[in-house]
Formats: sequence, structure tokens, C-alpha cells
Amino acid sequence: MTVRIGDIAPDFTAHTTEGEIKFHEWLGSSWGVLFSHPKDFTPVCTTELGLVAKLKPEFTKRNVKVIGLSVDSLDNHDKWAADIAETQGTAVNFPVISDADRKVSDLYDMIHPNANDTLTVRSVFVIGPDKKVKLTLTYPASTGRNFDEILRVIDSLQLTAVHKVATPGNWNSGDDVIIVPSVGDDEAKTLFPGGWKPVKPYLRIVPHPGAKSKI
Ligand code: BEZ
Repeated sequence: MTVRIGDIAPDFTAHTTEGEIKFHEWLGSSWGVLFSHPKDFTPVCTTELGLVAKLKPEFTKRNVKVIGLSVDSLDNHDKWAADIAETQGTAVNFPVISDADRKVSDLYDMIHPNANDTLTVRSVFVIGPDKKVKLTLTYPASTGRNFDEILRVIDSLQLTAVHKVATPGNWNSGDDVIIVPSVGDDEAKTLFPGGWKPVKPYLRIVPHPGAKSKI
């Protein structure tokens, strides 16, 4: 099954390192990041899980719950967690799904048979509090992900969910933003009483809502 932006994230019940989780119920009113890694006891995955554990306060600050997945057993997840603590200097402080029957991997199309017909690729799904998919990413097994980028996208998603703005390339929280094209100038005058920088009629720059102007 292909899971696309705007779809309701498929619900499931799974065995995890923190007990059985019913996904939608576990998410509650939080945002969520579901990410797969190909295999336990592998080097890139070891660094990724350590990284996400260290970044957990950043996810929590944004009201985001993180959950990992691989097709390995819970027993292996638990043994591997000791290696992660030893080598990455942090305990794994979020649940990791044991998807031995590939139920969740299949639901989310995480196994790409022409890459590998048994292991998952490195998928990322960001899910909003409305349970809709806001972002999908797919990386190959050999490339570790940039979780700072995932936090950056979450900052953009959370801002643009509330304000009628979009964020330019390489944007970071606090940088100026763009008034969305669906907002005409009359409405923009009400929404952005401080005005905007009219680079082009379709490219209108405003400060990050609530931040000091950099215009
Ligand atoms: C790794 O996590 O290091 C890895 C996993 C599967 C294939 C290649 C690398």
C-alpha cells in the first residue's frame, strides 16, 4: 500500500519495546514520527537510534512522539539497545516496533523489493494530530538520515498549519516566510498588518509570525 501526503496514517496494533501499542490511540493528540530501519545490530541504524534518543527533548518540545520499526525480534531489539547505550552514550528512550510479520512494513510500503526483499528501507512518516500524513521520506539502507532536517520540517509544518504562510528553501525557524498564493492582497493586509516585501506579486515576504523582522 502506498501512503501519501494527506492520507490518514494506517492504524495498527504492534509489539514494541515498550509493550503493545495501538498506534492511533498511542499518538493521542500529539504529532508523530514513524521511522523504519533495516536491521538490528547494523552500524548506520545504531547511530540513527542513538541520535533520535538524544534529540527526544526536541521532539517532545514540539509535541511529537517518535516510534521506530524494524522486522527484527523484540529480543534482538532489547539486546541491541545495550549496544546503543554503550556506543552512543544514550538509552533508547522511545518505542521500537518488532515487525517480524511485516504487518506494519506492508501497510506503509516500507519494503522495496528491488532494493531488498526482506528488510525495510529507511522510511519516515510525519503524522499530524488529525492522523493525516504530512511528510514522507525514503532513504536507502546505506544512507543515515538527517534528523535535524526532520525537526526543521516539523517546525515548518506546525507553523503553516496555523498561519497562511509557506516556508522558502533552506528555511529555519525564525527566518522570514512567504504569504501563500491563495491569500489575495486585500486579505493579506488584514492578516499581515505590518505589510510585506513584494519581491514579485506572487512572492511576498513577511517575518516569521511572532519573530523580529529580518526584512
Ligand atoms: C546499517 O544500518 O548500517 C545498514 C543496514 C542495512 C544495510 C546497510 C547498512
